[in-house]
Amino acid sequence: MKRGIYSKPVLFAVVAAVVILIGTIVVVFIPMLTPQMHVKLENLKPYTALQLAGRDVYMSEGCHYCHTQTVRPLKAEVMRYGEFSKAGEFAYDHPFLWGTKRTGPDLARIGGKYPDAWHYAHLENSRNFFPDSNMPSYAWLKNNRLNPAQIERSMRALGFPYTAEEIAALDGKTQMDALVAYLQVIGTAVTARAIAPKIDVAPEDKNPFAGDPKFIAKGKTLYDVHCLMCHGVDGKGVAGLAPSVADNIWLDKEGDVTDGVIYIITANGTTAGMEIAGRTAKGGMPPFGAAMSRQEIWALVTYMRSLQK
Ligand code: HEC
Ligand code: HEC
Repeated sequence: MKRGIYSKPVLFAVVAAVVILIGTIVVVFIPMLTPQMHVKLENLKPYTALQLAGRDVYMSEGCHYCHTQTVRPLKAEVMRYGEFSKAGEFAYDHPFLWGTKRTGPDLARIGGKYPDAWHYAHLENSRNFFPDSNMPSYAWLKNNRLNPAQIERSMRALGFPYTAEEIAALDGKTQMDALVAYLQVIGTAVTARAIAPKIDVAPEDKNPFAGDPKFIAKGKTLYDVHCLMCHGVDGKGVAGLAPSVADNIWLDKEGDVTDGVIYIITANGTTAGMEIAGRTAKGGMPPFGAAMSRQEIWALVTYMRSLQK
């Protein structure tokens, strides 16, 4: 061992290179060819032609310079954005749009978070909702018609096999329509398992904190963070987006409802056709029961009640 390979620098370099190369092949290239490296979530669906066209708009407008699409498995991120990102949810993303910088919030779980109308209004001018937002206005996207012929070429390049009818269906749609369709599908393969909120309050239950000024203040703080962007300042409602919660009309029908009913609507959200308190909901109110404690929801009810005078 005194001389051997150590005294022959050229041979040593060649042997070392071969050993490192074998190591690289074993740990990098062989796994790349195995199916385990190309996981796909069970309920992940390929993008529709409209969604894919929206993804192109997302890229060309540089949304990914301000927004990431990946939630790291860190407690603070999961609390803020939702379930952390899985390898299997990006199988149809060429290229990935994980991004690098969060000037705006992460969008990995944006699909289904708001109704379509919210996205149209927010893209039109984000300052309608957040006065200090520095997100540019994209109002002009709704004047830009999609160009099906060009989209078809880009889809072929990416290997998405759309039929002529699917491409033809894009005719007449705008870039805004496509972008909203895309935003609404992001992350839904993960979030679709929808955590059903548990409702343990009955319509006739009384609000234990009714009229308590401490809970009115607590409810207002929660309202301004979670509800204001749809129901507007002081619960006055926003035309075309969400009704007033400060009037005597509930789910489009005049006449008061009990505190228990307001609790249930807030916790459960509404879906089209849902029946409650002799009313039929139109849908579009997201559920908050999984994300908030009972006390927080009662605080919101207390606050909304205080607005009614
Ligand atoms: C200059 C940086 C910037 C760019 C570019 C930008 N955004 Fe934003 N975005 C923000 C900021 C800041 C917010 C938070 C305030 C707000 O909602 O307006 C935001 C919020 C959002 C939200 C709401 C997220 C949530 O969970 O409430 C969506 C959706 C969104 N942006 C989509 C887009 C899309 C789509 C594009 C490209 C067409 C885009 N953004 C481009 C900065 C940006
Ligand atoms: C993404 C938009 C959106 C957000 C955010 C939102 N809501 Fe709603 N809300 C709606 C829509 C849309 C309706 C109408 C639902 C229907 O008719 O089925 C509604 C209806 C309601 C109603 C019934 C009021 C009525 O006059 O019909 C209550 C109460 C309510 N929301 C409370 C809240 C509270 C409390 C929050 C915040 C924790 C909140 N909402 C956040 C969209 C929203």
